[in-house]
Amino acid sequence: MTAQTRETDVVARAAYPDLRGRSGVITGAGRGIGLAIALSMARSGMHVQLVDVDDSALAEAQELITELCPDVEVDVARVSVSDVAGIADAFGRFASTTGSFDVLVNNAGIAANAPSLDLGVDQWRRAVDVNLTGTFVCAQAAGRLMVRQRRGTIVNIASMFGVAAAADRAAYCATKAGVVALTKVLAVEWADRGVRVNGIGPGYIGTDLVATLVAQSRLDIEAVRRRTPIGHLGAAEDVANLALFLASDVSGNITGQVVISDGGWTADGFGVCS
Ligand SMILES: NC(=O)c1ccc[n+]([C@@H]2O[C@H](COP(=O)([O-])OP(=O)(O)OC[C@H]3O[C@@H](n4cnc5c(N)ncnc54)[C@H](O)[C@@H]3O)[C@@H](O)[C@H]2O)c1
Repeated sequence: MTAQTRETDVVARAAYPDLRGRSGVITGAGRGIGLAIALSMARSGMHVQLVDVDDSALAEAQELITELCPDVEVDVARVSVSDVAGIADAFGRFASTTGSFDVLVNNAGIAANAPSLDLGVDQWRRAVDVNLTGTFVCAQAAGRLMVRQRRGTIVNIASMFGVAAAADRAAYCATKAGVVALTKVLAVEWADRGVRVNGIGPGYIGTDLVATLVAQSRLDIEAVRRRTPIGHLGAAEDVANLALFLASDVSGNITGQVVISDGGWTADGFGVCS
């Protein structure tokens, strides 16, 4: 099955809950997993705010979602996830326009693959800034709004490399492990105030992030397929379906969990030898 056929198949099998009238912010929503999550939330009837640093990706994403889901509001905010004042402004504006702030998906993230002996401290700091500090900044800004209304769900996109190690990914693994820990802390802190916090740990998903690693010869895509028990990469829509489940009321008893969606990668202890 080609990647395109698989995406179409995942979308066709998706069951979109009725979330009309709710509102959600998705960071890193200009492309890839974030765009798929934003689209699935809009298909469920939610008003969405797309946060990204890439102006043209934001404009294209807004146009696409508006065309496919004309009944929902699609707001955009060009701001970095670690910009404390910019994020508070964007979230506050969205909350006052839509009248509520029900869901935050902390999806923005960057790769920082290099052997640890060569990894520059600037590269390390940038990964910490976007992947970990950005997740905290957005969760805190959303948490302040959600705790006040005593309702809300946050979904943090971590990685299977937040629970498993891989060579040449010190900054990525450390920041994603931090996201896993942060998810549990916030879930425990806000559980009795109506706010659930969960995470998703995707395995390899066919997005630009992966395409760039392949183009830089930092990733052998055929080796990834062979190493993955299910035999294919995930689609962004696989992550979107899970995010929708965790964001909606059907997962109402789940908080502080990080669900790994990796086609069996982390379960397979023999993967490295086969
Ligand atoms: N693709 C995979 O295989 C994979 C696997 C596991 C986890 N993830 C995680 O999923 C998330 C999305 O990955 P993707 O593959 O869709 O990535 P992507 O590179 O395709 O898209 C990421 C988006 O985030 C935006 N972004 C980057 N820095 C930002 C910042 N400071 N503020 C706001 N937006 C910013 C980019 O402009 C881009 O639009 C990331 O957190 C990534 O670590 C991806």
